[in-house]
Amino acid sequence: MEIDPTAVSLRPFRISDADDFLSFAGDDRVTRFLRWKTLASREEALATIRDVCIPHPWRRAVCVGDRCVGFVSIWPGSGNDRCRADIGYCVAREWWGKGVATRAVRMALSQVFGDFPDVLRIQAFVGVDNKASQRVLEKAGFTRDGLLRKYAYLKGNLQDLYLYSFLSTDVVPAD
Ligand SMILES: CC(C)(COP(=O)(O)OP(=O)(O)OC[C@H]1O[C@@H](n2cnc3c(N)ncnc32)[C@H](O)[C@@H]1OP(=O)(O)O)[C@@H](O)C(=O)NCCC(=O)NCCS
Repeated sequence: MEIDPTAVSLRPFRISDADDFLSFAGDDRVTRFLRWKTLASREEALATIRDVCIPHPWRRAVCVGDRCVGFVSIWPGSGNDRCRADIGYCVAREWWGKGVATRAVRMALSQVFGDFPDVLRIQAFVGVDNKASQRVLEKAGFTRDGLLRKYAYLKGNLQDLYLYSFLSTDVVPAD
């Protein structure tokens, strides 16, 4: 069943998110589609929040209530690539299928063009097997630009990836 969309919010990471962070960043079912290695301990979770999540240009904890159940990140390009940014996200396994990621991506889209005025395009690279992530992007209003054959290695396996994009002039679909 879909969650009440107003229960989902984005906020900066806090050190106190370490246990919640480990519950998804330590889960192979979540990290299999991410470049991250699966975290193995609370200490690794703490260090990742402190050294990666908090200093990140735009990484938000995805929260249900005040509990962190995932993340959404935007990486803006620089120089001649400053017109675009890459998006990435994940949600803890127990929350899958309730609309949390779609809500989080929509909220990110409604904020980032204001936060990064040079960015006109948000793009996502998604494995051809990652049907849930493709569906999230489609529900959030992204367009599939094309298929990138044998584009990158993920966890040692060479992947075909779909490239999706959302422009600042695209409209975030209503809930
Ligand atoms: C991808 C991910 C973020 C989706 O999170 P979520 O909160 O479950 O997403 P939502 O509930 O908003 O939407 C998921 C959609 O995918 C659909 N879906 C899930 N598994 C599917 C499958 N195997 N085939 C087709 N559709 C699928 C769901 O039915 C839902 O669509 P619907 O609302 O039309 O029914 C989550 O699965 C995850 O964290 N995966 C691991 C990390 C990851 O893949 N990140 C993205 C890297 S590009």
